[in-house]
Amino acid sequence: MQSSSLTTQHLDIRQLGINPNHWYVVARSTEVQTQPLGVTLWNHPIVLYRDDEGAVHALEDRCPHRQVKLSHGRVTGELLECAYHGWRFKSSGECADVPYLADNQKLPNCKIRKYPVQEQDGFIWLFPGDINAIEGKHCVPLQPMGVPEWEHLNYIATVSVIECNAHYSYLIENLMDMYHGHLHQDWQAWTDAVLEDIQEETNRVDAHYQAQSYYKIDKIWSISQLFFPALRRLHPEPLDVSYVYPHWVSTLGKDFKIYCLLCPVSETATRAYLIHFTSLNAFWRLHKLPVWFRRFVKDSLLGSAQKLLDGLVRQDVQMIEEEQQAYLTHPERRSYELNRALVSVQRLIKSQLQQRD
Ligand code: FES
Ligand SMILES: [Fe+2]
Repeated sequence: MQSSSLTTQHLDIRQLGINPNHWYVVARSTEVQTQPLGVTLWNHPIVLYRDDEGAVHALEDRCPHRQVKLSHGRVTGELLECAYHGWRFKSSGECADVPYLADNQKLPNCKIRKYPVQEQDGFIWLFPGDINAIEGKHCVPLQPMGVPEWEHLNYIATVSVIECNAHYSYLIENLMDMYHGHLHQDWQAWTDAVLEDIQEETNRVDAHYQAQSYYKIDKIWSISQLFFPALRRLHPEPLDVSYVYPHWVSTLGKDFKIYCLLCPVSETATRAYLIHFTSLNAFWRLHKLPVWFRRFVKDSLLGSAQKLLDGLVRQDVQMIEEEQQAYLTHPERRSYELNRALVSVQRLIKSQLQQRD
């Protein structure tokens, strides 16, 4: 144990793994239908599917018969059927049926790994560690971080998918470093960030910046600032960013909340969901209207910041991938970091790895 902790300490951050004892986000709810979906979480292929009752299951994406991917198969009732010879599997991972089993043959005693999975707030959360071992150490069960604004009628959501060929640490550092507003120019939501304070805890880093925000959502037409940059007026707002391992959360004043839900794929690939919420909390008159109407407003405005969010993601991904490429070509080159929030981020990544060890 001691030796692996020491190894972690001395390993380069860009080669570090993940602490599997957390809930990761592997898909949006809408992506998982009865047709199986193959995903990868830290080099582990996983198949997600919905049974005929609508419940989501997650199994190792590997047929124990010939080692092909179960995600090529289909769901029949509550069983997952392999595409190759039609063996069927229960959600527990046990083989339930072989279509050509002879009368004198027994079902093969093979079992594939089942992962704890939860569908919550529009996303599929998966626990890749050993949940029984972890819950034995805690009095309360570990729960997914969750996204409470997802169902809340006062928040309008936009989701952008981040696919980047880079280690997850580059993405988290980008998200925690508010001095990179410079990159975004026309898409920029904030400017003139100044880091004021950092708090570090076992599972999180909170960095508090003061910044100037371009948006204020206090009039019914405020949402149009997302489309017409000329309507924006700079004003001071607190800008808080948090690495809540393994995810990221941010608030800009009272009007915006952004989440980044992570699915690290490998040492050089990361998938993540960026969720931008615009708050309607300032419109108290709206809150007195019937719930069905408020739901209609929320649903109609879903994705209203899509162009903005996708634009930000494109710019960030380009920089993050270049950092990764530069590292792969010249791992010996040292970078010069002035933002101490990033030192805290790297410390948290390393300490999470030691907890895993
Ligand atoms: S490989 Fe899956 S049933 Fe044969
Ligand atoms: Fe950015």
